[in-house]
Amino acid sequence: MEKIVVLTGAGMSAESGIQTFRDAGGLWEKYRVEDVATPEAYARNPRLVTEFYNCRRKQLLDVQPCRGHELLAELEGEYDVHIVTQNVDNLHERAGSRNVLHLHGELTKVTSSREPNNPHYIKQLNEDEYEVEIGDLAADGTQLRPFIVWFGESVPMIEDAIRLAQDADVFVVIGTSLNVYPAAGLLNYVPRHIPIYLIDPNEVMWHDPSRLVHINKGASEGVAELIRLLKKRNL
Ligand code: OAD
Repeated sequence: MEKIVVLTGAGMSAESGIQTFRDAGGLWEKYRVEDVATPEAYARNPRLVTEFYNCRRKQLLDVQPCRGHELLAELEGEYDVHIVTQNVDNLHERAGSRNVLHLHGELTKVTSSREPNNPHYIKQLNEDEYEVEIGDLAADGTQLRPFIVWFGESVPMIEDAIRLAQDADVFVVIGTSLNVYPAAGLLNYVPRHIPIYLIDPNEVMWHDPSRLVHINKGASEGVAELIRLLKKRNL
């Protein structure tokens, strides 16, 4: 089976009703990264940061995977599909994708404030535990923090993601402005002879645009178009 590696960003979940970060009206217009998405912000005001992620976590209860998420899951019938996502929502999993690597963490998990990447302390929350409070403790006795990779923190999953990119037969990028590294740098590991499809209704800046086949559509229509192109390729 051919291996399709799909890098997704906030645009993947836009049609599910989760706002992106950098589009007009995006999340980073309402909040400052430095207030809610850095280790310093958490040290300064853990209550605000905990509340910010509680809100985002509870939003998961009101949204559903879009057709694009579903089509990517269905693609597993014909391809060895690996999703590498920058998204912290659980919509790929809920659509049925089985191989999902989260580069920036997961909203549905919490962890130790002292050793966030120690698997021993990472805890999956049930839906009735989505509201985390100050005073809720991890197994090491520290405050439970969101299992989110904040700006300025290392991205431990990037090594696995690089291996996937290097091993891809087809690489697909959906709904990311390619502003945030190391995620955006994954494209540099895709073998030269492999096509890179980019699904995004807007222009995306990339230093090597000739490498990209731009499908100028939103995620749902774009994945449907991708499937048509892949079929044509195999005729
Ligand atoms: P951005 O908000 O930077 O980019 C969203 C992209 O989605 C843009 O290129 C849009 O054109 C595109 N888009 C909008 N609507 C779409 C649709 N219906 N279908 C497909 N694409 C659409 O989001 P990311 O690139 O994901 O990190 O941001 C990367 C990281 O920055 C996030 O993981 C987050 C953020 O700060 C952390 O919080 C650590």
